[in-house]
Amino acid sequence: MLLIVLVLYLCPVFQCQTEDTELSEDVGFEEYTISDMDPNSAPLRIPRQVKTTKETKPHIQELSVQTTIISRYAFTAVSCSMLNRHSAATQGVFQFYIPTAAYITNFTMIVGGRVFPSQVKAKEKKMKKEGGENNGKKNKNTPEQSEGEMEVFRMEVTIPGRNRAMFLLTYEELLQRRLGRYEHVISVRPMQLVSRLSVGVTIVEHSRITYLEVLPLRNGKTPSSNGNGKADGKVGPPVSTVVNQNETFCKISFTPNIAQQAKIATNGMLGEFVVRYDVEREIGIGDVQVLDGHFVHYFAPKDLPVVSKNVVFVIDTSASMVGTKIRQTKEALFTILRELRPNDHFNFVTFSNRIRVWQPGKLVPVTPNNVRDAKKFIYMISPTGGTDINGGIQTGSALLSDYLSSKEESHHNSVSLIIFLTDGRPTVGVVQSPVIIGNTKAAVQERFCLFTIGMGDDVDYRLLERMSLENCGTMRRIPEDADASVMLKGFYDEIGTPLLSDIRVEYSEDAVEYITQNLFTNYFNGSELVVAGKLSNRSSDSLHVQVTASNSERSIVLEKDVSIHEQEQETERRLAEAEAGPNANGYVERLWGYLSVKDGLKGRLRSQTSAERENYTQHATNLSLTYNFLTPLTQMIVEKPQVLADGTLAQAQKEAEATKAPPPAESSNQLSEDDNSLTPQSLQRNQPPKPISAVSKATSGVSKPAKTSVTLSKTSADGDPHFVVEVPHSKLTMCFNINGEPGHILRLVTDHKHSGVTVNGALIGAPAPAGSHKDQRTYFSTITIVADKPRRSYIEVTPQKVILDDRERMILPSSSSISIETANLAVVIIANTNLTVTIQGTIQFVILFHHYKNPAPYQRDHLGFYIANSKGLSKETHGLLGQFLYEDIGLTQLPGNFSMAGVNSTQETLGKNITLTSYPALKLKDRTVTVIKKSRRIYSGKQTVDCWFAKNNAAKLIDGQYSDYVVSHLFDTGDWANGTNTH
Ligand SMILES: *[C@@H]1O[C@H](CO)[C@@H](O)[C@H](O)[C@H]1NC(C)=O
Ligand SMILES: *[C@@H]1O[C@H](CO)[C@@H](O)[C@H](O)[C@H]1NC(C)=O
Repeated sequence: MLLIVLVLYLCPVFQCQTEDTELSEDVGFEEYTISDMDPNSAPLRIPRQVKTTKETKPHIQELSVQTTIISRYAFTAVSCSMLNRHSAATQGVFQFYIPTAAYITNFTMIVGGRVFPSQVKAKEKKMKKEGGENNGKKNKNTPEQSEGEMEVFRMEVTIPGRNRAMFLLTYEELLQRRLGRYEHVISVRPMQLVSRLSVGVTIVEHSRITYLEVLPLRNGKTPSSNGNGKADGKVGPPVSTVVNQNETFCKISFTPNIAQQAKIATNGMLGEFVVRYDVEREIGIGDVQVLDGHFVHYFAPKDLPVVSKNVVFVIDTSASMVGTKIRQTKEALFTILRELRPNDHFNFVTFSNRIRVWQPGKLVPVTPNNVRDAKKFIYMISPTGGTDINGGIQTGSALLSDYLSSKEESHHNSVSLIIFLTDGRPTVGVVQSPVIIGNTKAAVQERFCLFTIGMGDDVDYRLLERMSLENCGTMRRIPEDADASVMLKGFYDEIGTPLLSDIRVEYSEDAVEYITQNLFTNYFNGSELVVAGKLSNRSSDSLHVQVTASNSERSIVLEKDVSIHEQEQETERRLAEAEAGPNANGYVERLWGYLSVKDGLKGRLRSQTSAERENYTQHATNLSLTYNFLTPLTQMIVEKPQVLADGTLAQAQKEAEATKAPPPAESSNQLSEDDNSLTPQSLQRNQPPKPISAVSKATSGVSKPAKTSVTLSKTSADGDPHFVVEVPHSKLTMCFNINGEPGHILRLVTDHKHSGVTVNGALIGAPAPAGSHKDQRTYFSTITIVADKPRRSYIEVTPQKVILDDRERMILPSSSSISIETANLAVVIIANTNLTVTIQGTIQFVILFHHYKNPAPYQRDHLGFYIANSKGLSKETHGLLGQFLYEDIGLTQLPGNFSMAGVNSTQETLGKNITLTSYPALKLKDRTVTVIKKSRRIYSGKQTVDCWFAKNNAAKLIDGQYSDYVVSHLFDTGDWANGTNTH
């Protein structure tokens, strides 16, 4: 029996979307038989550019996504039915994007009539406590920030021939109010056109719905969560949307037929279906709802006077901000400056290697002159140097602290905050995260709040999140390609209008136990505070609610006695009226569980001692298990159907319990080129490395990667670039350089006709180091692998990411350990170290990632390419490396009088006892190539190899000439054109 741990391979949606179609030339349009089609869409017009291809990909007959939102708590149920019409078993992939803030609560498959349930279990303890958590910084989506981000849930199973699979997935989420709106997002990306596609959203509220909008489908790289949602200038809901609404109830459906889907996107990537709404609020303590011994309290007062604020902007101006990032940051700051209120005070700090303060020693009031001067200051910012995060925070904190001390006499209430923005990791000054976190806390001293913003992929989000969580702020992430200007401005809008500070929400002590977070430093206009609790004594009928807070000029106390009984009846009546369905039962309790888990995870992140941390972990884990939440502390275990050789389903076995989920493997350390722990000769392949965060690994029915060491051959192209070829037949090693042109793409291995494998490498240039005889250096910046058999797959590798296009496209960051197996390929990334690609089990390539922390001008992040196993490559293989795989190459000596211009004779002892004034030479085919002895460093400098070096760009050693190896594009699979590779 095969038990696997489910993959929630975390990947922000903007990365996972097909950015372009350069790779997907065979984007499939299924063969639709008439019976499958929606009869209403009768005259189906297949867009001209779409080819009908015969594929074995199972066909999604039906996809239904139904959400019920009960008082902002959203239950979503996805059901997907897939049909394998062929007689042979085939792989079916179910993939669904889930909002980062949501928790999966159930996943069940029905394959070939058998039900495969899942189970949520506590994660097994890791050996090293921190192991998994430091891993995958980039993609680790934390409970705190979730805006617009999505994670992928993915399941690949073998569907028996002429049979179907059904996937049932449910998840839950509390919608957060931002800028006066709740937003619910459903990703509709089935990756094919679907005969019956339906998306439904039902909203059941207690208060009147005052605003409701269905946005146009949101698509593209940046989920513009703050934008106005107008994609491509389109407005209004997408075609086929129907909205039924009365005061407190709303039902929305989106059911595009195939023709309508094809008009939106032929590849089934329709985009995000977004519903925004808001409800009416009463003045007072807010809305309390009671059900089944639990309550939830929503507090979002409006129409209060705005509290003035003291704000210090701490802005990263390190070199990496150059270009778009700094331009967009400046744009956002200009807008923000215009919107500061007359009573606000502000200042700017910029940091790189150097810290600069705009107005030393003070915060200035908002006057036209100050705003104009500030604009000038921002305008003049020009990024350079490293990233002194600690210095920036310390300077900003001191500025704000001093200002607050000097203003102690002020009777005005005000809210003080630092808005900190960076796009990188600390590189200058204090660089250890724990020290920075400690220093920050000491400097802030709970006198103000720290809001952090990370831009792009190279940010230590865990550090930013802790810094803000410990200092009453929040963290926001701006994806690499997002419109930073819009997002920055949006984030500022959320916190730019404080209405209350020091909010404390309390309930009669004898009536409640276990309430979720009830102290809040600030309440910003457009947001909402939500507290949930468990009622301790159900016989007591009254719940006393008290809210105390400060507003600009005064303290506010709001009080009310809520009748539990009446409130519960009211809640039940509304649910019944709205026919909210089975989900309605216990939604308040589940909401309480959901918030408690989030609290627990935050507390865990903030905890100072390991005992405290353990406590939070235990608590949050237990709650997750109670409510069947798949959280960062739990994992989901699913039994997978096993299909026998004849294409039928294996019989159910006794106990799923028999096998345990594979233990999470130790994550590999962060390695840079300098401390690369790569073992020479045998590249220790970690066990399937534990991917990014919560859950584990993408598997298909195929066997797990063996936990054995992979022996690396020395045959490689690495460095700038140096080629090394080990010739097993003659037990010698030769080497050569290829001084290519930047921008050229070189054929490294081509065997398209036979094994279907092609490897190309693209060069980038860099200036040569001083004193070098070369004009420039070149490095491999991109390596592409095309595997054509049994099915076409593409892999594109850069030092930053790996794009795998095998049926669908995935973008995997090189900074996370990830292992993915499909029927064709096994791909294993060891974070920041290397990538191993295994094709058909007999061909294996290893690509090393070379990153420089502080690159010299002549260095570039680049890749090294090694052939680990070439068994599956045919004798016809060609390319700069491929041509030598089966070549018989011998070493010979040319007599000293052999005329050779410009080459000095070598006089040395070679191997045994030949001491001669002679020229060593390699013999291959009908050619003789003089060589000299050299040493080459390989495997990131970990090993030195002695080799016979052929000068002059390997003239005569390689077949043909340089230009014969330059291909037209990255995925060019042209075989060696200049005749066959004769032996
Ligand atoms: C999960 O969903 C399946 C199918 O709808 C259902 O039979 C099962 O009871 C659910 N499990 C839990 C724990 O809710
Ligand atoms: C709103 O619609 C729901 C469902 O159709 C119905 O039960 C409810 O009575 C309606 N409420 C009002 C105020 O019309």
